[in-house]
Amino acid sequence: MIYLDNAATSFPKPPQVIRAVAGAMEKIGANPGRAGHRMSLAAGRVVWHCREEIAQLLDVPNPEDIVFGFNCTDSLNLAIRGCVRPGDHVITTMLEHNSVLRPINGMVNRGLITWSLLAPGEGGVVTAEQVERAIRPETRLIVINHASNVIGLAQPVKEIGAVARKHGIIFLLDAAQSLGVLPVHPLDIGADMVAFPGHKGLLGPFGTGGLYIRPGLELVPFREGGTGSSSESMLQPSELPEAYESGTLNLVGIAGLMVGTRIVRARREEIQAREKELSDRLWNELQDINGICTLTTRAPDVGVVSFNVTGYSSGEVATKLDRANIAVRGGLHCAPAIHTHLGTLDRGAARASVGHASTDADVDALISEVKRIARESM
Ligand SMILES: Cc1ncc(COP(=O)(O)O)c(C=O)c1O
Repeated sequence: MIYLDNAATSFPKPPQVIRAVAGAMEKIGANPGRAGHRMSLAAGRVVWHCREEIAQLLDVPNPEDIVFGFNCTDSLNLAIRGCVRPGDHVITTMLEHNSVLRPINGMVNRGLITWSLLAPGEGGVVTAEQVERAIRPETRLIVINHASNVIGLAQPVKEIGAVARKHGIIFLLDAAQSLGVLPVHPLDIGADMVAFPGHKGLLGPFGTGGLYIRPGLELVPFREGGTGSSSESMLQPSELPEAYESGTLNLVGIAGLMVGTRIVRARREEIQAREKELSDRLWNELQDINGICTLTTRAPDVGVVSFNVTGYSSGEVATKLDRANIAVRGGLHCAPAIHTHLGTLDRGAARASVGHASTDADVDALISEVKRIARESM
């Protein structure tokens, strides 16, 4: 199978990640941070080293500012629900994934908050000026998708971060498609929180993800319970990371994530350059095929290329490619607003997303199969 669905989750995982998962299961499968015996301490060290790896990748000084969750959705929910209060206004964009749109719109629908949903301009970008114009006295949060999982374009997050800082508004960055590929440095960007999955660009296992939280920013936890600390109290501790990490952690997942992040830290620039080269070529070659329409007017910034074939739905295209042993994703990619904006809500798009292990041959095979499908549709 030629796997071009890395925007959903990265595959294959590096063998070192698989070994780390199996090793944790086999040798140190105790509950991290819950007991004083050697196995529990060893498990706790794995969790700590993973925090350190991620803190280094994000270029933040304190690993305790990284909180583990179960995927990017989990982290986005903690960030959004944790800081928004009734009466607040939230600014976000039509580029967002449902993991941002649904928690916010759910609160809007219940009459608790208001929101501004900004549309990207011609170049697929929401500008800092647009964000600044949308600010109201009650604006509490700005949420921006660093790189879109549908059109693959990066947003001017540093400029938006400067606007958020100038107005004292909390800035949450969704780095689901960027972490591990683009540089994501919250201190430089001016992001107060960065939500990320562990199973995409960090090459970790399913069930992993996390949230960077700027020191001093207090969230209301939506999951409370045992933390292995301050157990005499029936109130949730306020110290990070325990404040937001109740219950037994996904130790085996975190063991794999630690190794995946280490690999990515060593290879990030190379991965970025390689994914850019492959997706540039794919995007460019698609422009020359009759009957193919890409969703963007320029090549993407991350390895995501979405397109449609005249005469077929995106689901049909994905099924035809699957029959040719090529895995891409059709449909809306959990991002309905950008499809509404682009006029593709009815058919979605076929999305090919390259990853750390993608090759020229993978892209060649896709292009040749897409040419065949396009000819057949004529
Ligand atoms: C931009 C974006 N945000 C959030 C998510 C949610 O990530 P997860 O599947 O880890 O919850 C995704 C997943 O595709 C995404 O692309």
